[in-house]
Amino acid sequence: MSNVVRVETSDRVARILIDRPPVNAMNVDVRRGLLEALSVLRGDAGIDGAILAGAGGRFCAGSDIEEFDAPPAAPSSVEVFAALENFPKPLVAAIAGVAFGGGLELALACAYRVASPDARLGLPEVKLGMLPGGGGTQRLPRLVGFDRAAPMIFRGEPVSAKEAEGSGLIDAVVEGDLLEAAVAFLFARRGDTVRPAAARSTWIDRVREDRPAFEALLKDWTAKAREKKSANAIAEAFRAAVDLPFDQALQRERALFVERRDSAEAKAQRYLFFAERDAAKVGLDAPSVRPVDRTAVVGAGTMGVGIAMALANAGLPVALIDSDEKTLDRAAATIATNYRRQIESGALTAIEAARREESIRRGTAITAAGDCQLVIEAVFEDLGLKKEIFATLDRVTARGTILATNTSTLDVDAIAAATTRPGDVLGLHFFSPAHIMRLVEVVKGRATAPDVLKTAVMLARKMGKATVVVGVCDGFVGNRMHLRRAPNVERLLQEGVMPATIDRVATAFGFAMGPCATSDLTGLDVQWRIRQAKGIRYPVADALCEMGRLGQKAGAGYYRYDPGSRRPLEDPVVHDLIRKTAVSLGNAPRAIGDEEILDRLLLPMINEGAGLLEEGIARCPADIDVVWATGYGWPTWRGGPMYFADHIGLITIRDRLERYSTQLGDETLRPARLIKALAAAGRGFSSLPAARV
Ligand code: COA
Repeated sequence: MSNVVRVETSDRVARILIDRPPVNAMNVDVRRGLLEALSVLRGDAGIDGAILAGAGGRFCAGSDIEEFDAPPAAPSSVEVFAALENFPKPLVAAIAGVAFGGGLELALACAYRVASPDARLGLPEVKLGMLPGGGGTQRLPRLVGFDRAAPMIFRGEPVSAKEAEGSGLIDAVVEGDLLEAAVAFLFARRGDTVRPAAARSTWIDRVREDRPAFEALLKDWTAKAREKKSANAIAEAFRAAVDLPFDQALQRERALFVERRDSAEAKAQRYLFFAERDAAKVGLDAPSVRPVDRTAVVGAGTMGVGIAMALANAGLPVALIDSDEKTLDRAAATIATNYRRQIESGALTAIEAARREESIRRGTAITAAGDCQLVIEAVFEDLGLKKEIFATLDRVTARGTILATNTSTLDVDAIAAATTRPGDVLGLHFFSPAHIMRLVEVVKGRATAPDVLKTAVMLARKMGKATVVVGVCDGFVGNRMHLRRAPNVERLLQEGVMPATIDRVATAFGFAMGPCATSDLTGLDVQWRIRQAKGIRYPVADALCEMGRLGQKAGAGYYRYDPGSRRPLEDPVVHDLIRKTAVSLGNAPRAIGDEEILDRLLLPMINEGAGLLEEGIARCPADIDVVWATGYGWPTWRGGPMYFADHIGLITIRDRLERYSTQLGDETLRPARLIKALAAAGRGFSSLPAARV
């Protein structure tokens, strides 16, 4: 008998249990075990039906992703799904926890599905550069229709059993003991004629009656997708559902899946999946953690509000502190609006939203942090101010209270030195909006105590964040690399390349937004102030700021904006400014191709990434990739900047950096020592062992 699939029979019902911790991922052993169990039970006259469930409170998190890079091992999941579908007696999937990917496909092949209210059901394959390959694109629309199936498969976002209730996906949402409820459900259905998903055609017939609406749906979803190849494959599989007999459509889906599974895009996303989980295990060496039941956030601006919401969402009470009453009032209004929107979109119940909102209390005095075990400072980037706040926090909080700064660039060690207990201090660099963006750079100071680091990493995980532990330097990993892009964008503008051209190249590569449109969104004045303080002059960006073109908030920046609109429109004023600047700087007009633009956007960042590895600020190239994929909108199907560099080849990267450095007279573009050494040895970043941060 299988060691990962158990069968227990009582009251004439067999319970088939997948038991493969931690998430019951379906590998060859599970597939084999299921087939064996089903073939034995098929002829068992002692049962009236069977329940399929997962051990450990989880149904199944899908096919084992680790197997996708190995040669396929029989039996295939398609055989398992067919055996479930053809099981001669009623078969009920009892879903708790998650039924994702192949896990949901298992359930879809069963005659019935019952689920706990908070179970999550999804087909997230698209997030791994693929599409469902075991009937998901065929059975789901037959049960719920294409309008409901499309968002689940094109976006890959799960739905809760509660949301799925009544859609045809779940037959019953049950409270209490799931297995008992599933057995009761099965008894109630004894004698009913079972109609498997494959035999249902209502939704398929509807499409046949109104094909244009179906095509419009597919067009809409493929247009919205950032990664087009998977989206097109999903659309193809949907068409097969309508145009081909079920068995042939299944084969078509499988062929599309295999092609996507073996694609460069899917490999890159699998790499990121495991890189993110690897990064999440860093910083956990301490034998114990500090208790965190009460938290405070100092500074109620945009960042502070987002962080307070993220803490409240994780179930922690928060004191949101700001000396300015008006700022606190604005913060309260923003928090209320954000939660109201979540109620309206169905993401939160009104009760839960109210609970979260109420768990954020406001205060003007920093002493409100006095009884907290973790304080996150989120005031604006001014070292003097931050030091002052930390000196005060040192006095008003108990020793052992974790003091975190949300600085994005400043020296965490200098901030820690303002206290009498630098071991309690670290950086928690959230990204805006902090309640939505997944990344937190956990900045380990020179003196940060191991249990402080561990507590902070675990807290961030509890908040649903992707964590990457990094060392102290100006900008840490993400911003330090990001800051290398700005001078290169400016330099391209000075050579007469228009913002829309730069942004087009960036979005064609896969970024959601180009650098100029992003600057307009965040405001040009932030970087302008930093440049002024450092005495750096950017002829194009500075001129825009001097003209009051500070970005979207001013109605104009690199682009112009119609009132109330966020759509960037090209502006002849900016074109004129750029042309004149190019002439005044003596930059002879020349056509700069897309490849050169892309190189000049990406290579300086990769070069800086190599510097971070040399200095031990980043533990390994994969950590850098996680930072970029989860915090900076790097297209996940390209794996991350360091993965991408390996893909191009470090010899090419080195040679191009040398060329641009000479061509532009820019010494900062000389390839980093690490790139030169690896290129000379014919190696890539991925060959580096992980360092200790
Ligand atoms: N295949 C192989 N391993 C998987 C897996 C899968 N489908 N899903 C999760 N795991 C592993 C993780 O790598 C991790 O392993 P580790 O402990 O060695 O690092 C472990 O299971 C726990 O996963 P983790 O994500 O850290 O736990 P979680 O509780 O935060 O989330 C899930 C659990 C199931 C929600 C999440 O792992 C997930 O979404 N998995 C992917 C599901 C998916 O895409 N399925 C379709 C595959 S085609």
